[in-house]
Amino acid sequence: MRLAAMNAIIVGGSSGIGASIAEGFVREGAKVGIIGRRQEKIDAVLGKINKYNSGAIGRAADMRRRQACITAVDAVADELGGLDILVNSQGITIVKPSAELSEDEYLSVIDTNLNSVFFCCQAAYPHIRKNGGSIISISSLAGHRGWPLAVHYAASKHGVIAITRTLAAEWAADNIRVNSISPGYFHTELTSTLKPERAALATSRTPMGRFGDLPEIAGAAIFLASKEASYVTGADIAVDGGFLAKGL
Ligand SMILES: NC(=O)c1ccc[n+]([C@@H]2O[C@H](COP(=O)([O-])OP(=O)(O)OC[C@H]3O[C@@H](n4cnc5c(N)ncnc54)[C@H](OP(=O)(O)O)[C@@H]3O)[C@@H](O)[C@H]2O)c1
Repeated sequence: MRLAAMNAIIVGGSSGIGASIAEGFVREGAKVGIIGRRQEKIDAVLGKINKYNSGAIGRAADMRRRQACITAVDAVADELGGLDILVNSQGITIVKPSAELSEDEYLSVIDTNLNSVFFCCQAAYPHIRKNGGSIISISSLAGHRGWPLAVHYAASKHGVIAITRTLAAEWAADNIRVNSISPGYFHTELTSTLKPERAALATSRTPMGRFGDLPEIAGAAIFLASKEASYVTGADIAVDGGFLAKGL
C-alpha cells in the first residue's frame, strides 16, 4: 500500500497506459479520479477498478484548452478531497509524412500531447502545493529521438520532457516532484493502427524483442509517485525493453 491516503488524478486514465496506471495506483491504496474524453470508456475503467472498493471517480472532458483543464482538475480534486499526484497520460498521434501534415493535424497533436500536459500541471499546482506531492507525465521514445512520419508527436514528446525538467526545478521549493516516463511499444488504442511492418520494425529494434505488457508500465509510475522516490525529480524513466539503450 505504497500510495495509501494519497489522491491522484490520471488524465487519459480511461484507456491503455493511463488505465493500467489507475489500476496500479488503486491496488497501492490511492483514491483515483480519471479524466478522459469519452464517458463510456471512463465507466468501463471505473467498473474494473472499483472492484477494489477504491471509491474511484471519473469525469469526461476534452482537455486541449487551459480553461477545460482548470475546470476538470478543480472539480475532480475537490471531489477527491485534495490532490497529491497528477498523471498526464493523454495522447494521440497521426502517422504522416511531415511535408503532408495539415495545420489542423499538427495542432491537434500539439494541443493534446503538449499544451494539455502543461495546462494540467498548472491546474494541479495550487492543489498539490498544499501538502506537496508529484506529477508524472508520459513522454515516449519519440521524446528522445527523431521520429519519421510523426514530427508533431516527436515535438510534443520532447516538449513533455522539457516541461518536466523545468517544472521540477521551479516547483522543488513547493515540495512538488515532477518526472516523466518514456514507454516503448505497448498494445493500446493509440498503437492499434500501426501497420504490421511498422510493428515488426519496432519489435526488431527492441532488445527484449517484444511489446511491453500494460501492467509492466504501472510499476514505474507507482515508484515515482511513492515516498520511495522522495529525492527523484526532473527524471525520465524508460520502460522500453531496452530500445533507447541500443546503438547498432
Ligand atoms: N502505447 C504506446 O506504445 C505508447 C508509447 C509511448 C508513449 N505513449 C503515450 O502514452 C500515453 C497514453 O497513450 P495510450 O497508448 O495509452 O493510448 P490510448 O489508449 O489511446 O489512451 C489515450 C488516453 O488519452 C485520452 N485523450 C486523448 N485526447 C484527449 C483529450 N483531448 N482530452 C482528454 N483526454 C484525451 C483518451 O481518452 P479517449 O479514449 O476518450 O479519447 C485516453 O484516455 C500517450 O501520451 C501516448 O503518447 C504510448
